[in-house]
Amino acid sequence: DWTSDVFIDATIADLKAKIGSDKVVMGLSGGVDSSVAATLIHRAIGDQLTCVFVDNGLLRKNEFEEVLDSYKHMGLNVIGVDAKDRFYKALEGLTDPEAKRKAIGRVFIEVFDDEAHKIEGVKWLGQGTIYPDVIESVSVKGPSATIKSHHNVGGLPDFMKLSVVEPLNTLFKDEVREVGRALEIVETIIGRHPFPGPGLGIRILGDITAEKVKTLQEVDYIFIQGLKDHGLYDQVWQAGAMLLPIQSVGVMGDERTYEKVVALRAVGSVDGMTADWIHLPYEFLGKISNEIINRVKGVNRVVYDISSKPPATIEWE
Ligand code: XMP
Repeated sequence: DWTSDVFIDATIADLKAKIGSDKVVMGLSGGVDSSVAATLIHRAIGDQLTCVFVDNGLLRKNEFEEVLDSYKHMGLNVIGVDAKDRFYKALEGLTDPEAKRKAIGRVFIEVFDDEAHKIEGVKWLGQGTIYPDVIESVSVKGPSATIKSHHNVGGLPDFMKLSVVEPLNTLFKDEVREVGRALEIVETIIGRHPFPGPGLGIRILGDITAEKVKTLQEVDYIFIQGLKDHGLYDQVWQAGAMLLPIQSVGVMGDERTYEKVVALRAVGSVDGMTADWIHLPYEFLGKISNEIINRVKGVNRVVYDISSKPPATIEWE
């Protein structure tokens, strides 16, 4: 019979035996899986573990600073890398969703490889892989797929030649959360909605600019904060906003406006494979819509996505 305490003790003992006095490097995403995996490895080997958290410029508003702070609070030896400009440069002019994903994946690998090279004698690559990732599923589009496609193209980055350590690869998501809570990881990380690796890069339809990121970050922040303030956040599996590549006519005072449209999406799901749109209260949607239009410059229209998966996907790209 599985309990998180037994799992934690056994895993820490395993990790100690396996890693010994070697060094481990690991990328953190701010998500549940990598945070729990890193915490377990850190309990086993302390500062022999170096974590790397990359700001790809496509995270939610304030996310990089807040999550980096939480990691430091947790005692993790973590390096925060501001690589925003490298990502924006690589994304310049790209509009095709897969091309954007590839560019984001490629730059991530380059940035991570640079950091891994700074750690002398590193032997292991830590990963937050969970059981559903192992048996395929949603992660076909995740970082491991990016690494795989990179692999097919040519030379492996050096960190990919490291031995892999994946302490969560027998667990399901709810078990990972249980382990995380037993490890006393903060609820803001444990209860966090899933967020795609390419981040806002696939929620800005069409090409990406720093200015569009800023706009979408403000919209997304109002929506997500609203869900939290109204006690709706935990009833939703995943939520976010899309910046659409169209403009619509509006009116402000005596003037006509011609500005951006955003779509809000909130879904219920178990594993992301299928999803239902959530019937958020009209009053809530109306309030959030007003707030977005009043506060975010350049947006004059808000729509709510009422499609389920299948046939729609959760993300628009
Ligand atoms: P879709 O849009 O396929 O999304 O219904 C299912 C789940 O996967 C996430 N997703 C991604 N995660 N890299 C990721 O790491 C990606 O390229 C990617 N695309 C979609 C999505 O947020 C949802 O949770």
